Amino acid sequence: MTSTASPVLVLGGTGTVGSRIASQLASQGIPTLIASRNPPSTSAPSHVNFDWDDPYTWEPIFLGKSSSSKSTTAEQDQQRSKSQPVPQPIKSIYLIAPPSLTGDRPMIEFIDFARSRGVQRFILQSASSIEAGGPLMGKVHAYLRELGQRGEVEWGVLRPTWFQQNIAEQPNHKESIRSESKIYSATEGGKIPWVSADDIASVAVRALTAEDAPNTEWMVLGPELLSYDEIAEMLTDILGRKIVHVDLSSAELEKRHTRFGMPEEYARMMSAMETAIKFGAENRTNDVIFSVTGVAPKKFRDYAMSVKDVWETRLQEMGIEGKA
Ligand SMILES: NC(=O)c1ccc[n+]([C@@H]2O[C@H](COP(=O)([O-])OP(=O)(O)OC[C@H]3O[C@@H](n4cnc5c(N)ncnc54)[C@H](OP(=O)(O)O)[C@@H]3O)[C@@H](O)[C@H]2O)c1
Repeated sequence: MTSTASPVLVLGGTGTVGSRIASQLASQGIPTLIASRNPPSTSAPSHVNFDWDDPYTWEPIFLGKSSSSKSTTAEQDQQRSKSQPVPQPIKSIYLIAPPSLTGDRPMIEFIDFARSRGVQRFILQSASSIEAGGPLMGKVHAYLRELGQRGEVEWGVLRPTWFQQNIAEQPNHKESIRSESKIYSATEGGKIPWVSADDIASVAVRALTAEDAPNTEWMVLGPELLSYDEIAEMLTDILGRKIVHVDLSSAELEKRHTRFGMPEEYARMMSAMETAIKFGAENRTNDVIFSVTGVAPKKFRDYAMSVKDVWETRLQEMGIEGKA
């Protein structure tokens, strides 16, 4: 089985990693479908409407058309599908979980549904901190591995560590750096091998399109171990004003996550993961990115330099740019 020239469906294709996968696939001339509830803001490969919580949106993707949602009329759906020609058949799918602790259920249902529509390869984005059989993506990981061991699917699981992009794109970090010159965590001095979403996407593209599927898990780690204190020091240097790392308790971080709109139980899981970092949970690196892609993994400093404007605007507006 091979998926080299077959269309790839990227679930979560408008997000941090999915959008990068979609643009890398498109630049290689590989037909790509981006799936999410909201269309991408910029022009991109074909977008299809997809909602984990609305199975009504699943079938049309495999029929070569995209639905709107439960609430739209058949006529609206017809119009929409006419304007969105979709290549077929889909042979490989990138899976990004919804932010819900019960997200494994629709994911497993969807995998079975897609298999019944002829999909051969599934590549799951999990996390470095979630083992096969663990919560959410862990259950999906175990399911794919089991199907793979029975020879029923080609599969792969990417287990990336914490993204470099979090610091510039997640509102909690972006806003506190911009307006308070602070970065909050519950990690104390724990180190993380921060990984670039570009590198995760490059590994994902290989997993989705290579002649041979990984049929294993890959821990996707960045090239250097940095604590939040060291991230704050680097940002201080890059931005020319003092950025301070504020260490929170697990409970304080959980509250902070919910203030930024994260569902309560999910916030509890996220703050537990972050607290584990202080005990060394992420204190390792590896050569997966280089061995899979042949390209050295990107460093945090280079990323931070390339996006530094996102942290500057608020202080410029307040007229205190560049003060330490
Ligand atoms: N950030 C990290 O440091 C890190 C580290 C390791 C693993 N991870 C894992 O990576 C995943 C997130 O990846 P990401 O950061 O690339 O994504 P992201 O930027 O958070 O984007 C999420 C994507 O999923 C879509 N989506 C959300 N809810 C959906 C739903 N109910 N139905 C269909 N689509 C939905 C979103 O589009 P719509 O909202 O328009 O539908 C969007 O395209 C999570 O599973 C996270 O645990 C993150």
